[in-house]
Amino acid sequence: MPIRSTVILGTGSYAPERVLTNGELSHTVDTSDEWIRTRSGIRERRIAAPDEATSDMAVQAARRALEDARLAAADIDLLVVATMTPDLPMPAVACIIQQKLGVRTAAACFDLNAACSGFVYALDTACAMIASGRYQKALVIGVEKLSTIVDWQDRTTCVLFGDGAGAAVIGASSEPGIGLIGTRLGASGDSVDLLYISHGGSSAPSTAESIAARAHCMRMKGKEVFKQAVRVMDDAAREILEQHQLHADQISHVIPHQANLRIIEAISQYLELPMDRFFVNVDRYGNTSAASIPIALDEARRAGRIKPGDLTLLVAFGAGLTYGSALIRW
Ligand code: ACO
Repeated sequence: MPIRSTVILGTGSYAPERVLTNGELSHTVDTSDEWIRTRSGIRERRIAAPDEATSDMAVQAARRALEDARLAAADIDLLVVATMTPDLPMPAVACIIQQKLGVRTAAACFDLNAACSGFVYALDTACAMIASGRYQKALVIGVEKLSTIVDWQDRTTCVLFGDGAGAAVIGASSEPGIGLIGTRLGASGDSVDLLYISHGGSSAPSTAESIAARAHCMRMKGKEVFKQAVRVMDDAAREILEQHQLHADQISHVIPHQANLRIIEAISQYLELPMDRFFVNVDRYGNTSAASIPIALDEARRAGRIKPGDLTLLVAFGAGLTYGSALIRW
């Protein structure tokens, strides 16, 4: 079958109602608004309600993306969900979302876990499947309920993360030179010990003791992650630009993974691109992992920042370490 070009037909996002400020966190762990703001740029994050599952947030974001694309859930024949916090270990949360959203039963639905790079991985996967001609309309969702895997007693991590969802609808186009024009995915498995959850998987199932020790929560070597994040994001951005014979200055805007304002500022310096080309919302949501790029992309579009003909660079890194970049011409 012919290879077709793929375009984003619509985007949507959802953030839970509950806002958790730095000030509130400073009452539960030994931290301060000033420390969190100066080290990470985060002022507040959203926290899902106890009865609000990952699938519920995903459905909200997906409905907005479908509305934006002027399509119905029944038009979707491929659903890819990037998450590391599915509703249940099995079945895939994509199938739960399919049922809640009303995506047709014959659609292909699956989850993908590349941590914070998940949305870029899912976008590349869905676009390749659409480009093959075997699927027509894809819904790609990045969603996380990180509040369920954060150790709320560990000040070195709990101040950084939040919950949310973002979605994009993908279709084929016959117009050359627009849409997803390239991706670069990668991983370095020698860094798995930088960011991990030690228990609750097949190598170490949860026990009463592991739960009491909160070993089902995220652990992170923050300083090392910071250094690697800057290096791999810079590489992922440079490599994709080189591949497409583009100069950084030709990028209209960068939608980076929103982990830390200082990481984004470092990338801005390395690429010699001013900060006003970078979309930043880490101050309002913290790090929402796989949801971070699609939420930022949706907010940038809805704010009118993205115009026809613009070139957008997505760039991400996450546990694994995974990394990825994507170039989109609008
Ligand atoms: N409040 C107050 N003090 C704190 C806090 C806190 N919340 N957290 C740590 N500290 C203390 C530390 O204990 C340390 O104290 P010490 O010097 O007495 O030992 C001091 O602050 C400095 O800690 P550092 O780790 O050196 O702080 P740093 O400037 O590196 O900033 C941070 C820490 C914000 C975690 C940074 O390293 C970072 O952003 N790293 C990247 C994290 C990241 O991006 N993770 C997401 C990965 S993506 C994914 O897949 C989930």
